[in-house]
Amino acid sequence: MDHTTILTHGGVFICLYRGRKDLGDITSHNIKQLKKLNSVVFPVSYNDKFYKDVLEVGELAKLAYYNDIVVGAVCCRIDTTDQGARRLYIMTLGCLAPYRRLGISTMMLKHVLDFCEKDGRIDNIYLHVQINNDSAIDFYKKFEFEIIETKEHYYKRIEPADAHVLQKTLRTNQASIVQASS
Ligand SMILES: CC(C)(COP(=O)(O)OP(=O)(O)OC[C@H]1O[C@@H](n2cnc3c(N)ncnc32)[C@H](O)[C@@H]1OP(=O)(O)O)[C@@H](O)C(=O)NCCC(=O)NCCS
Repeated sequence: MDHTTILTHGGVFICLYRGRKDLGDITSHNIKQLKKLNSVVFPVSYNDKFYKDVLEVGELAKLAYYNDIVVGAVCCRIDTTDQGARRLYIMTLGCLAPYRRLGISTMMLKHVLDFCEKDGRIDNIYLHVQINNDSAIDFYKKFEFEIIETKEHYYKRIEPADAHVLQKTLRTNQASIVQASS
């Protein structure tokens, strides 16, 4: 349990209950909850292959709970470039609107960052964000992601269709340095 204690003007202590936050695995038994959550949180819909792949990625996909209720989810995959760089792509990371600004997404992103640190071979983390999604841009900038590119007409069925690519560099890829210098 997590508490914040505030001293009021009258000298009375108020104890605010902030709730318990946890992460849990995504399995065939709860994947419908992920589908429902994503349909509410994101303006684009994800196909069956997305959900099939999510069941295979282990720690790279998690549900977030607030007092045992599913309120958020993160789904990632690992990409490898032709230059040999390993990149973690955040496909979706979102939280239900009533539960925002409670640190739920921070918990999910920290899990992803911990995963990368333990792996030790991931060069950067990246994702796409609709250009008008200020809250997501602010959220990722807090964790030192930078806008590295803006792709026009990235989205097919939503407006605005343009997307920023946000990236956080974790390490300089040795394979691409060797390739570039040879
Ligand atoms: C962006 C989003 C993931 C943030 O989730 P959240 O659970 O509210 O984030 P947190 O509570 O962990 O916020 C951490 C920090 O991010 C920043 N932040 C988050 N939302 C913000 C907002 N609306 N405006 C400004 N800063 C914001 C703040 O610095 C915040 O810290 P603070 O609350 O102490 O000021 C959430 O708004 C969301 O689910 N949006 C829809 C899905 C989406 O766009 N996902 C991103 C693309 S994958």
